[in-house]
Amino acid sequence: MRYNNYLMTLATALILTQAPLTAQQKAEPHRPQLHFSPKKGWMNDPNGMVFINGQYHLFFQHNPDATVWGPMHWGHAISTDLVHWKEQAIALYPDSLGTIFSGSAVIDVNNTAGFGKNAMVAVYTNHSHEGEKAGSDKFQNQSIAYSLDEGKTWTKYKGNPVLKNPGIRDFRDPKVSWYAPGKKWIMTLATLDHITFYSSPDLKNWKEESRFGRTLGAHGGVWECPDLISFNDKGKPIWVLIVNLNPGGPNGGSATQYFTGSFNGHTFTPDDTTTKWLDYGPDEYAGITWSNTGNRKLFLGWMSNWQYANVVPTKNWRSAMTLPRELTVKKINGRYFVASTLVKEVDAVLRPVRNASDIRVTGRYEVVPASAAANGLFRLDLRGIPAADFSMALTNTKGEEVVVGFDKATNQFYIDRTRSGNTGFEKGFAKRHVAPRIAANAGMNLTLIGDAASLELFADDGLTVMTSIFFPSEPLSGITIKAPGNLQIKQLKYGVLVTKPQNR
Ligand code: FRU
Repeated sequence: MRYNNYLMTLATALILTQAPLTAQQKAEPHRPQLHFSPKKGWMNDPNGMVFINGQYHLFFQHNPDATVWGPMHWGHAISTDLVHWKEQAIALYPDSLGTIFSGSAVIDVNNTAGFGKNAMVAVYTNHSHEGEKAGSDKFQNQSIAYSLDEGKTWTKYKGNPVLKNPGIRDFRDPKVSWYAPGKKWIMTLATLDHITFYSSPDLKNWKEESRFGRTLGAHGGVWECPDLISFNDKGKPIWVLIVNLNPGGPNGGSATQYFTGSFNGHTFTPDDTTTKWLDYGPDEYAGITWSNTGNRKLFLGWMSNWQYANVVPTKNWRSAMTLPRELTVKKINGRYFVASTLVKEVDAVLRPVRNASDIRVTGRYEVVPASAAANGLFRLDLRGIPAADFSMALTNTKGEEVVVGFDKATNQFYIDRTRSGNTGFEKGFAKRHVAPRIAANAGMNLTLIGDAASLELFADDGLTVMTSIFFPSEPLSGITIKAPGNLQIKQLKYGVLVTKPQNR
């Protein structure tokens, strides 16, 4: 009897501290529950992210017919809360000008293009595979399409392409925004190893304004998927130019760098020439922001890396997106940095489990034990940790783990996925990745979000961010903090994330 009571208590504790594996996870191990992933087929970059009438639209690079990269379409998903996504019919199909590469979407509030007031206009790259095979350098051109029913149906503009290639092999990924002081659209375009800015009164006629970055920033690979956004720092406009790069990221492969500075409607002038990264981890790429969200800057990236994206061990689909993040600028030692924090909407699916203050870690401290029946969806917030050596092991009952930590000697955070389960599909996958600590204050704050096959680390309220994916044979649901000496943590909050299954 006593033993039965004990088991009951144990079972209740586990139910409270761990959410059970979902039916979807049982059927499709590694299927994220909180992150958007396509029902089937291949996905890469987020495209055309735009907000209108209470709905967040997420279009994406999509090959619906295979789980590897191939003829690109724009897939489409909608969310009202940035957490639950519903996949829609494919928005844009390949046409006689080529397949549909990355781009953006705007709401044409003033009907500048003449397609209709508040038309949703997509600006994308047509990639002609025939042109590429024929040896031309002009196989990537910019085109537009519009929708008068909030993205359900689309009409391609008959005057496409609207911006012809001058002879640059990599000429793509237009991100368009309205520049109010000049009453014109600005297109930020990736042109091989730099950015070219264009302007237009009507989205149809484009004129070159300036070029940026040939000798600035990281150049380990080709520049892709840029974005130009502005913030307000106590009345002072701060512009941020996001430039995705592949390869050449801080931890190998693809990654997102950014520049801070000013933009006058014609040229971007950096205020700092050091290379900064929005996410230092291996698995955030092609990240850009939503348009039409006012002063709220919402960012999301593709949660993979071109180094291995085509071979990761998932069956019916490949890849997920990161969670949406809100961007702000912060001044540290006289220099501007972008901080990314998890959107507050995620709080709605958080079920708090523990809230403890003044925790002393002597050697090891178990936050929650690993359980074979748990789904691995959690959020852990630690506040007021001294900048000393410590780590957190995310574990399962199979002995697999991902270790997240801080190394005082190098002033670096790290995520080590060496023993994270199935890593054999690519020889560079089983690795420890590092990121510098940017914050200058003594105490550190960390937020960790775990889903079935990913971890996002937001350190120092988003000044250092790392995203990492992994493929354990059972979700990593246990968390143990380890410190070589005594470590005092001011506050620890742990909760599970309870979502409806994605796409159902
Ligand atoms: C970035 C990218 C873009 C391109 C798209 C093709 O991941 O290479 O530059 O438009 O993917 O799918």
